[in-house]
Amino acid sequence: METITVNGTTKKERYEDLVPQLKALVSGEADPIANLANVSAALSMAFPEFLWVGFYLMREGELVLGPFQGSVACTRIKLGRGVCGTSASRRESIIVEDVQQFPGHIVCDPASRSEIVVPMSDHARVYGVLDVDSGSIATFDITDRKYLELIVSAIITPMLANGAKN
Ligand code: SME
Repeated sequence: METITVNGTTKKERYEDLVPQLKALVSGEADPIANLANVSAALSMAFPEFLWVGFYLMREGELVLGPFQGSVACTRIKLGRGVCGTSASRRESIIVEDVQQFPGHIVCDPASRSEIVVPMSDHARVYGVLDVDSGSIATFDITDRKYLELIVSAIITPMLANGAKN
C-alpha cells in the first residue's frame, strides 16, 4: 500500500517530509497520469491551505486540464493566457500574491486569492504546468517555488522516459 506521511509543522518542514516520499513514489511508476494524480493528492493532503492543486498538460499547443484535487476547473488554457499560459510560454515559475492584480488571470474558483504556477519543462519543451491556488492572499513564496520546482523535476524524468507528448 502506498502511503505518504507528513509530520512537519512549518511549510519548509512539510515540504522536506514530502519531497523524498514523492521522489520514491514517482520513480517506481512510468505512467505520467498515475504520477500526476498521486502528486496532486499528496500535495493536497500535506497542505490543507491549498484550495486547488493540479496539472495542465500541453496538448497540440494548448494547456488541457490534467489530474487535480479541488473544484471543477476550466479545461483548456491557451499559451500566454492566464497565470498558467503565461508560465508555460515564459517557461518560468510565477508567484501571484493577489490574483485580482494579475492582468488576464483566469477565474476557475472565485474563492482563489493567490496562486503559484510552475512549468514542467526540460528547457527545450514545455510539457505542462503545476498550478496551486489558495483561498488567502500571499500564500506562496520562494519556499513553495523551490520545493514545487523540485517536485516537478522529479515528475518530469519518468514522463520523458515514457515519451511525453507536446
Ligand atoms: N487561475 C489559472 C487558471 C486555472 S485555475 O486556477 C485551476 C490561470 O489564471 O491560469
